[in-house]
Amino acid sequence: MPHVTYIEHNGTEHRIELEEGLSVMRGAVDNGVPGIDADCGGECACATCHVYVEEPWLAKTGTPDEQEASMLSFAATAQPNSRLSCQITMSAALDGLVVRLPEAQH
Ligand code: FES
Repeated sequence: MPHVTYIEHNGTEHRIELEEGLSVMRGAVDNGVPGIDADCGGECACATCHVYVEEPWLAKTGTPDEQEASMLSFAATAQPNSRLSCQITMSAALDGLVVRLPEAQH
């Protein structure tokens, strides 16, 4: 099964195996990774699942659609590599994906 590594702002790493088709947010929530609250349940409406995608993975995860970009524009800590993890769907191509959590989320 493909895996994702979530890195908390304090450097703590969580390596989680995630079934293809599930969102990167779901992998964090179901496995108790702190810092991803996912208040809206994955509807792209809260931005509490904000992550930073590590550089080598940016091309594979793609770019935010209009709604996601709009939500990210409200996130004070948004950076060019910001994504909402509920909008990243796990696939074999993303095996090894690394995402970091913003400082405000813990
Ligand atoms: S879970 Fe709410 S925007 Fe991702």
